[in-house]
Amino acid sequence: MMSDQPKIQTTEAKLIEGAKQAMAKAYAPYSNYPVGALVVTQDGQTFVGCNVENASYPEGHCAETAAIAAMVMAGQQRIQSIYIMSQDEQGATPCGGCRQRIREFADNDTPVFLCSPKGVQKRLQLSDLLPHAFGPEFLI
Ligand code: THU
Repeated sequence: MMSDQPKIQTTEAKLIEGAKQAMAKAYAPYSNYPVGALVVTQDGQTFVGCNVENASYPEGHCAETAAIAAMVMAGQQRIQSIYIMSQDEQGATPCGGCRQRIREFADNDTPVFLCSPKGVQKRLQLSDLLPHAFGPEFLI
């Protein structure tokens, strides 16, 4: 069991690094608030996204939205966990729209890791962020 520990830490460190690299690509000249998101799919693949703003402020895209789009484009539709990286020492919490977008491809107990460059600051589950969620199971 002990020998598993470094491997798990390395994996999480890599995921955090991936989210950090995604944040470095953010286009956020208006808010100056770069964000990176990394989703891990159930088969262990990872997809990243960053926020992309534009001069018409409400039309910008969040990092989570971009990562989910990349996942879906690759043919994956189940999120096992998601890492959200910002410069905020507390870890940024996803906006309402992104909570619903995550919910579409995740479960109520899917872990959501709010990260700063120093590492994971908060480990939540999706239902903490979106209790009593309306999800695809209501319709399908
Ligand atoms: N933003 C994200 O990309 N993800 C979050 O979880 C919180 C907010 C972006 C939207 C906007 O480009 C900037 O951060 C400031 O709101």
